[in-house]
Amino acid sequence: MAFPIQRLRRLRQQDSFRRMVRETVLSPADFIYPLFVVEGQGRREEIGSMPGQFRLSVDLLVKEAAEVKALGIPAIILFGIPAKKDDRGSSGYDPNGIVQRAIKAVKDQVPGLAVITDVCIDEYTDHGHCGIVKDGKILNDETLECLRTMARTHAEAGADMVAPSDMMDGRVAAIRAELDQAGFPELPIMAYAAKFSSCFYAPFRDAAYSSPQFGDRQSYQMDPANGREALREIDSDVEEGADIVMVKPAMPYLDIIAQARARTLLPIAAYQVSGEYSMIKAAGRAGWLDETRAMMESLLSIRRAGADLILTYFAKDAVRQLH
Ligand code: PBG
Repeated sequence: MAFPIQRLRRLRQQDSFRRMVRETVLSPADFIYPLFVVEGQGRREEIGSMPGQFRLSVDLLVKEAAEVKALGIPAIILFGIPAKKDDRGSSGYDPNGIVQRAIKAVKDQVPGLAVITDVCIDEYTDHGHCGIVKDGKILNDETLECLRTMARTHAEAGADMVAPSDMMDGRVAAIRAELDQAGFPELPIMAYAAKFSSCFYAPFRDAAYSSPQFGDRQSYQMDPANGREALREIDSDVEEGADIVMVKPAMPYLDIIAQARARTLLPIAAYQVSGEYSMIKAAGRAGWLDETRAMMESLLSIRRAGADLILTYFAKDAVRQLH
C-alpha cells in the first residue's frame, strides 16, 4: 500500500499549482495609506522612528496623494499636526484647521481618491490624551461633543469617511447623529472598534508629538489581555451605526481579527500600526530579515485572518510588489 495517501506536497510542486490553490491574495484595493499633515509650505520631514514616512505640508501632501492614487490605492487616512495645542484640542475642530484644509486640497486636486479622517483629539491636546481631562480624569461625555464637531467639520470640508479612534463610549452613535443632522446621512463611519492600549503606537506618537504628558491611556484603550471585551466593543459599535469596524494593532491581534470575522457581516479593517512598521524596517535595515518578504508576509497574514482592509504605512511599497 502506498504510503502516505495524503501528500500535501503534490500541489506545491510547481508555481502554476501554487497559484491555483492560493487562498489569499492582496490587491491595491485592500489598502488605506496613512499620512501626516503639518503647517507650512514645502515641508517634508522624515519621521525619525518611521523611516520612509514623512510629515508633509498641504502642498506636498497633495503630490503624495496623487502618487497614492496613481498606484491604485483607493484611500488615504489623514492625521493632523497642528501649530497650536490646548487642553480641549480645539484646533482639531476648527473649520479652518490643518486637516480640514488638507481635505479640501486633496479633494480639489486629486479627484477620485477617498479621504478618510482620524477623529480624535489627542493630536490637538496639550496633555496628549484622547479626551477632555478634569482633575486627572477623562470626561467621556464632554469629549463626545468635541468628536461630534470634529467629525462634522471634516465632513463639511469634504471628507469621504470618518474614523473615530478615541475609544470613548458612545462616540459612534454621537457622530452618526451629528452627521445625519448636518446633512451627511450617507457618510460612512469606520470605527476603531477594538483598539488596544498598545506599546506599538510609540513611533506614531513621536510622529504626531502626541504622547500623553501624564498617565497612560489604559482608562479608555483596551487591555491587551481581553478578547471577549474586544467583541463587545465591536458589537456596540455595530449597534451604534458603524459601517466598518477596525481592529488595532494588527499582527499581535490576529486572533481578534479572526473572531471579529466570524461574528460580524460588516467589512473589517485592521491597522498595521507604526510600531509594527518600524520593527520590520529596523530589522530589514540591520540585515536580520528581508524587509520586503516580511512586509508581504505580515500583510498576507492580516488578510488571511479575515481583514478586508489594511491601514498600513507599507501600502505604497506593497502595491509596487503586486505590479
Ligand atoms: C489616535 C491614534 C493613534 C494612532 C492612530 N490614531 C495614536 C494613539 O492612540 O496613541 C496610532 C497609529 C499608529 O501607531 O500607527 N489619534
